[in-house]
Amino acid sequence: MSLIRKFAYTVFSIAILLNIYIYTYPSITPNICSWEYQKPITNPSSNLLDPLKKIPYLGDLIDQYIAPTEYKKPTIEDIKMLAFGDPQIKGNWPSTPYIKRLDTFGNDYYLGHIYKVMKKRLQPNYVAVLGDLFSSQWIGDSEFFNRTRRYVTRLYDQPDEHREYALNYMNTHDQVDWMKYLEETKAKKLNELEFGYNDVYDWNTPNYTKKFDNEPLFLNVTGNHDVGYSGDATWQHMTRYVQLFGKDNFWIEYNAGTPHAYRIVVLNSLLLEGPALQPEFIDYTWEFLYQLFERKFKGSTILLTHVPFYKEEGLCVDGPYIDYYKENAREPYKIGKLRSQNHLSHDVSQRVLNLIFNDEPGIILTGHDHEGCETYYNKNSTGQYWTASKTKDTNDVSIKEVTVRAMMGEYGGNSGLMTGHFNVGKQEWEFDFKLCPFIIQHVWWVTKVVSIISTLLLSTVYLFGL
Ligand SMILES: *[C@@H]1O[C@H](CO)[C@@H](O)[C@H](O)[C@H]1NC(C)=O
Ligand SMILES: *[C@@H]1O[C@H](CO)[C@@H](O)[C@H](O)[C@H]1NC(C)=O
Repeated sequence: MSLIRKFAYTVFSIAILLNIYIYTYPSITPNICSWEYQKPITNPSSNLLDPLKKIPYLGDLIDQYIAPTEYKKPTIEDIKMLAFGDPQIKGNWPSTPYIKRLDTFGNDYYLGHIYKVMKKRLQPNYVAVLGDLFSSQWIGDSEFFNRTRRYVTRLYDQPDEHREYALNYMNTHDQVDWMKYLEETKAKKLNELEFGYNDVYDWNTPNYTKKFDNEPLFLNVTGNHDVGYSGDATWQHMTRYVQLFGKDNFWIEYNAGTPHAYRIVVLNSLLLEGPALQPEFIDYTWEFLYQLFERKFKGSTILLTHVPFYKEEGLCVDGPYIDYYKENAREPYKIGKLRSQNHLSHDVSQRVLNLIFNDEPGIILTGHDHEGCETYYNKNSTGQYWTASKTKDTNDVSIKEVTVRAMMGEYGGNSGLMTGHFNVGKQEWEFDFKLCPFIIQHVWWVTKVVSIISTLLLSTVYLFGL
C-alpha cells in the first residue's frame, strides 16, 4: 500500500472515531445524560442483549440504537425539560476579522449540534433557553433579526411551520414598530394586561393542543443581553423581543384543579427593580406577579428566569452585586439607573419568592452566572424570610434553585435535564436536575476539519489511483 494511501486511511479512521464521539457523547456518561425516575420493565425472558447493557458506553449505545429498554409508563406523564443557559451568540461587524467570523459561524453549528443530539436522544416535552440568547443589548434591529435567524435555523432547529412566523416577520420588516407596541400597551389599564395560558403543548396550533410532530414546546426567557438591565431596556428592546420570542412574562397552567397540577412561570427578572429607564416596565412585571399570586394556584411551579435570587457571598461563584450608571456614563440620561446585577436584591427576592411560591412546592431554573450552581431557598420557622443555603431544610418550605451552567463552548456545551415526576404515594411532583456536558468547541472543530481533510484525501487517492 502506498504511503499516501496509508495516510489517507489513518486520517479516515481518526475522522470516524471523532465523529462517533461527537454524536454519541451522552452515552459516555448516561447517568447524567438521561431523564431521572425511569423504571425499566423487568422481563425475565427479555432481550439477549440485556447483559451487554451493563458495559459502560457500549451498553448505552446498544440501548440507544439497537435494543431500547422499555420503561414503565408512569401514572402521570413525567415532565421532561431540556434547559440551556446563556448561549450568548455573537455577531459580526464590518471590522470583525475573518477568523473571528469563522469562529462565530462554527459556534452556531456547535450549539446546534448539542441541541440535535440531545433532542434526538431525550425527546423532551419542553425546551427552555434561560436568557442571554444573544451577547449584546447594544445592537440594532437588523442585527437582532440576523441573530434571531441564526437562532431559529442553526441553533435550535425546528420544523418549518414553527419558525415560519419569525422568518416571515423578519423578511417583511426592516425594523420593529415600537411606537405601535408602546401605544397598544399603554392604551391598556394594568389589570387588562394578559399573561396567562392553559395547557399549552404547541404554540403553532389554534388552541395550543399537541400536533402529531411531537416537537417540544419552546420557552424563551429574557436575559440582560437580550433586553438590557432595567437601566437600558427601551420600548424598542421589548418590542422586538416580544414580536419574535413571545411574552417576557407569562404562566402556563397544566391540569389545573387536579392533584397533579403544575405550572410553568416565565419571569422577566431584568425588569423587577430600578431605577429603570422606562419605569412602566417595572409596573408591568409586578402586575404580572400580582395576577399570578391572585390565581391561588394549587400545584407545583417551575420558575424559569434569568437573574438568580439573592444569596450571600460564597454560595455560588457570583456574589451579590448591583451597579448603577455613574456620572461618566456615555448616555447622560442613564445616570443613576440600574446598570448591572448578579442577583436580584434581597428585598425583591423575598417578595418574588412569596408571590410565586406561596407555600406550594416547585423548582427554579436560572442562568446568568455561566458557572452554574445549586442552592435551596428555605423559608424560616416564622414563615417570613427565605434564606439561601447549600442544604435543604426538611422542616420547612424549601425551593431548589438551579443556576444552569452555560451552553457556551468555554463552559463545555452543557445541557440541563430537568425531570418532574408525580409521586402518586405522596401526591406531589418531585423534581430532579442533571447537567450533561459536551466538550469545548475545539474538539467539534477538529472533527469537522479532519472529516473534510479525510474526504479530500480519500477522493484524491481513489481518483488518481495512488
Ligand atoms: C443582516 O443580514 C443582512 C443579509 O445578510 C445584511 O444585509 C445586513 O447588513 C445584516 N445586518 C447587520 C447589522 O449586519
Ligand atoms: C420562542 O422561540 C422559539 C424559537 O425561535 C419559537 O419557535 C417560539 O415560538 C418562541 N416562543 C414564543 C412563545 O413565541
